[in-house]
Amino acid sequence: MNDRPTVIAIFGVTGDLARRKLIPSLYSNYIKGRLPEQLRIVGVGRREWTDATLIDHAHQSLKNYATAIYEQRAWDRFRKMLSYSKVNLPQPETYKNLRDDLDRLDNGYSNRLYYLSIAPEFYQDVVCNLGALGMARSNGGGRAGARSQSPADTAQSWSRIVIEKPFGYNMETAQALNRVVHSVFDESQVYRIDHYLGKETAQNILFMRFANTIFEPVWNRSHISNVQVTVAETVDVGTRAGYYDGSGVMRDMVQNHLLQLLSLIAMEPPSAFDADALRNEKVKVLQAARAVKLEDTVRGQYAGYRSAAGVAPDSCTPTFAALKLFIDNWRWKDIPFYLRSGKAMRQKTTQVNIQFKRPPNSIFELTESGDYSRNMLSICIQPDEGIHLTIEAKIPDQQIAKSVDMELHYDNAFEAEDLPDAYERLILDAINGDPALFIRGDEIESAWKIVDPIIDGWAFDPAAPAMQNYAQGSWGPAAADKLLEREEHIWRLSCLHQT
Ligand code: BG6
Repeated sequence: MNDRPTVIAIFGVTGDLARRKLIPSLYSNYIKGRLPEQLRIVGVGRREWTDATLIDHAHQSLKNYATAIYEQRAWDRFRKMLSYSKVNLPQPETYKNLRDDLDRLDNGYSNRLYYLSIAPEFYQDVVCNLGALGMARSNGGGRAGARSQSPADTAQSWSRIVIEKPFGYNMETAQALNRVVHSVFDESQVYRIDHYLGKETAQNILFMRFANTIFEPVWNRSHISNVQVTVAETVDVGTRAGYYDGSGVMRDMVQNHLLQLLSLIAMEPPSAFDADALRNEKVKVLQAARAVKLEDTVRGQYAGYRSAAGVAPDSCTPTFAALKLFIDNWRWKDIPFYLRSGKAMRQKTTQVNIQFKRPPNSIFELTESGDYSRNMLSICIQPDEGIHLTIEAKIPDQQIAKSVDMELHYDNAFEAEDLPDAYERLILDAINGDPALFIRGDEIESAWKIVDPIIDGWAFDPAAPAMQNYAQGSWGPAAADKLLEREEHIWRLSCLHQT
């Protein structure tokens, strides 16, 4: 981290994400002493707010979402870093106010982090308007010719842009957005966020695979039978119908979060823990995905979705998806990766279950089910973060085996009370210039290439599997179970709290 002044401009500071995640994450980093010493946080929005309104808003946000770490004296210092700047996103002339506000704060020579937490239809406007005023330079946070800017200062300062998901609506719009972004920012300045990559347990997939020797030798088609990624949510569409009904689960969850988890599981070992090496390998996996057959997909909608406020009464938006995907490379050829995600499901859980093959030869009396259970490695992303390994063990005083768990729970192993929020890590990485946990332009396009044909097939192909209804509070439609039964697999769930 360099120690020059840094300004973070949060576009959309009045919104939900800023209130729930961004402000608390910045505060948490602040009290841990991880932020640059000279930092200013500028909230950007179109409302007629003053600095005082923003400070009040931030205060409420911390009181509601950072209760455990709120501390009056720290807040008194933190609040001094906050100010507000009004910008009407599509109107270029209003960015002059922002530019002048930022220049006033730092004489125009600080580092600049622009965080876009706004509706995606405005991404292009913001990028172009920042570009037009020369606010996007990587070697000069301020505009050309700004006061007090020595050549040495210019050489060191940077500007970066963090862009929230969704990045594009499909491959075509993602490519178009990439082109616009690249016309203003170099790829090295662009941080496309997927908050799942900031989750401790998602990051730990890399440590588990590449900081140990025992997993890698069996991490392939010779030993693994199938891989399952489940991202189940109990929440329904809630108040987000305006966005969600136009997107659905494939765009909202599968294109990003599930494919990111899949690429961490399936990637080859990178040669270094750096952004290029890591992302090269992730892209290779996504590019090796075989086109998914429509018959290997299931789409569902929870009962009652169509009567939620803001949802079209005849909506065909899926709130659940399950699919079987293959990765055509030497490591994974013909091993199914099953992905599923849904809203209004029975329990909130994100988990990856890796099922191993059965022993080739049985020398013991078999279990009641007639066979050994498959060994299973479960990576519990959330909640109850941990790793479980299910093995067969002899039942004492009997001659048969039973599946038992070897378990790692984060709260025991690390005495961690609360794990840091994903945004805490990611904001810090963006400030420190480490894009490893952000999505590269080619990566985002590779992910769209996988999901686009499914979304289009569901919309236009008469032979596509029909929409299935599922009861709220269930594990999704029965068709999702049938998808696995064809290969004599079943969805496995570990990491669940007892209900
Ligand atoms: C967001 C989706 O990206 O992720 C939401 O837009 C979803 O629909 C959320 O609820 C889930 O995130 P988490 O961290 O609660 O699993």
